[in-house]
Amino acid sequence: MIDGKKVLFSGMQATGTLTLGNYLGALKNWVTLSEEYECFYSVVDLHSITVRQEPAELRKRARNLLTLYLAAGLDPQKNCIYYQSHVSGHAELSWILNCFTYMGELNRMTQFKDKAAKHADNINAGLFTYPVLMAADILLYQTDMVPVGVDQMQHLEITRDIAQRFNAVYGDVFTIPEAYIGKSGAKIMSLQNPQKKMSKSDENPNASIYLMDEPDVILRKFKRAVTDSEGQILYREEQPGIRNLLDIYCACTGKSPEEAVKEFEGKGYGELKEAVGETVVSVLKPVQDEFARLSEDKSYLDSIIKENAQKANYYATKTLRKVQKKVGFPERIR
Ligand code: TYM
Repeated sequence: MIDGKKVLFSGMQATGTLTLGNYLGALKNWVTLSEEYECFYSVVDLHSITVRQEPAELRKRARNLLTLYLAAGLDPQKNCIYYQSHVSGHAELSWILNCFTYMGELNRMTQFKDKAAKHADNINAGLFTYPVLMAADILLYQTDMVPVGVDQMQHLEITRDIAQRFNAVYGDVFTIPEAYIGKSGAKIMSLQNPQKKMSKSDENPNASIYLMDEPDVILRKFKRAVTDSEGQILYREEQPGIRNLLDIYCACTGKSPEEAVKEFEGKGYGELKEAVGETVVSVLKPVQDEFARLSEDKSYLDSIIKENAQKANYYATKTLRKVQKKVGFPERIR
C-alpha cells in the first residue's frame, strides 16, 4: 500500500516495434487501472540486453517507449514512469532472489526455451535468469497487481513462488502479487497465422499491426488477414482467424464477443475486416498524434524521466534495505 492505494507494477521491453498485442494486452489496461492504483510502469531496458542490442538503437527505442506510455494516456504526475536501468535496486534485488530460485524452475520456463532456440548463438545466463529479474521488478515495489498478457503468466507464477519461499524463511517481507489479465485482448494472434501470438519479432510485417503503422497500412494488413472458408462470423475455436478479429474488435470497443457476433450477423468477412481495421485506426490515431507531439518536447520528457526515477528509487530502496537486513547484510553506517 502507498497512501492507502494498492500498488500496481508492469513493464515492457524496448526491443522491436510495439504491436497491437502489446497495446491491447497491456498498455490499454494500464491506462484503465491507473486511477485506482498507485502505479509503476517501467521501460525494462535491463531485460532487453538478454538479446544483443545496438546501443544507439536501444537508447532510442527506450525513449520512444517511455514517450508512448505517456501518449497512451498515462499521467506521469500520478503514475511512476521510468527506466529500469535508472533504479539500481532492480539488479540488486535480482541478485538476492537468484539465490532463492532453483535451476529446475528456470529450466521449465517456456519463454526461455523459445528464446534460446531463436538465439542459439547467445544463450547467456541473463536469458536464463530473466524471470528472476522480472520477480525483482515486481517485488521491489510491494506490488499487489500486475497487468500483463497471457504470455507472461508463467513468469508471474514463478514470481509468486519466489516471494512465498522468501517469506517462509524471513517472515512477511514481500507482498504476494496477483496477475491482472484483461477480459479481451489478453492474447492477440498473428494476422497471418492465427495459431501464433502477434509478436514484435515476427519476420512477416503483415502478421503484426505496429502501433506506429499509418492508417492505410493498418487497413491493408487487416484486409490481408488470414481467415477460413466457413463463411460465417462466429466466435469459436474452430475459426481462430475470425475469433482473433473479433477479439481485437472487442478489446478496442469494450463490447463482448456475443455483442460483436450479433453486430456482424449476416455480414461477410470483407466487411468484418474493414470494420476491425477502422476501429483499430480510430484507437491508434490519437495515440500516434500525441506521440508525435510529445516527442518534440525534449525538456518536458527529461523532467519526467528525472522526477519519476527519483520516486521509483525512493520506494525501491525502502524494500531493498528491508531485504538486505533480513538476509544478514551489515548495517550501513551514516
Ligand atoms: P513484452 O515487452 O514482451 O510485452 C509487454 C506486454 O505486452 C503483452 N503482450 C501481449 N498481449 C496480448 N497479445 C499479444 N500478442 C501480446 N504480446 C505481448 C505482454 O504480455 C506484456 O504484458 N517480460 C516482460 C516485461 C517485464 C514485465 C516485468 C512485465 C519485465 N518485468 C514485470 C510485468 C511485470 C516482457 O517481455 O513483455
